[in-house]
Amino acid sequence: MTDRNISTDSPEKRAAGVAAAGLVSSGMVVGLGTGSTVAYTIKELGRRVKEEGLDILGVVTSYQSEMLAIDAGIRLTTLSQNPELDIAIDGADQIDSGLRAIKGGGAAHTREKIVSMSAKRFVVVADESKTSTQLGKPVPVEVLPFAKELTVNKIRGLGGEPELRSAVKKDGPVITDNGNFILDVDFGVIRDPEALALQISAIPGVVEHGIFCNVDELYTGNKDGSVKIVSSQK
Ligand code: A5P
Repeated sequence: MTDRNISTDSPEKRAAGVAAAGLVSSGMVVGLGTGSTVAYTIKELGRRVKEEGLDILGVVTSYQSEMLAIDAGIRLTTLSQNPELDIAIDGADQIDSGLRAIKGGGAAHTREKIVSMSAKRFVVVADESKTSTQLGKPVPVEVLPFAKELTVNKIRGLGGEPELRSAVKKDGPVITDNGNFILDVDFGVIRDPEALALQISAIPGVVEHGIFCNVDELYTGNKDGSVKIVSSQK
């Protein structure tokens, strides 16, 4: 389990998050992801708003990114007002050499996917621990509480072992920002992420899963402050 605390300082995450903020210029509408890595991007964008007069609008992906963006002084808009974003920047739980990612460690992947798919350019920020040749971490799947049993059975039929995510400092399950449950599904090594993504999406009651096949660029931060940039071959 990686450290999700946005107060813990991480030079690697900071390097990636701050570098990606450099992609943003005045006039842009920017998708703001969730988690401890993109928190550095949001803080850096806020610094540029205050110190450099950067003029942007943000679209948030969770209550966490909304609170961070408001604290940072970033003006916000909605997808209803601005359906097409110039760029979206977000973290990941795991990302493979083909830039397929697993997201949802913070249960925010549904809005993250909608925001990233609304953007002309989707950039993931991460530290080296997130990179892997193949995906193999449990896949977060947001499901309607009404459909829990059906989704659990259908996911088992796909070869996955689902576990209902439990809340911390609240008894019972995690309730997402959208009012749903999260199943963390162990599929072992995922040999064909695109095919599995389609199969999970076809289950009634699944709101959204955490397999992302739409990453354009990956910014990986190192302890020495350097950043490796990889672009998708799409
Ligand atoms: C939120 O649900 C996730 O998709 C995060 O973007 C992802 O877990 C990365 O978070 P960290 O940057 O905190 O590792």
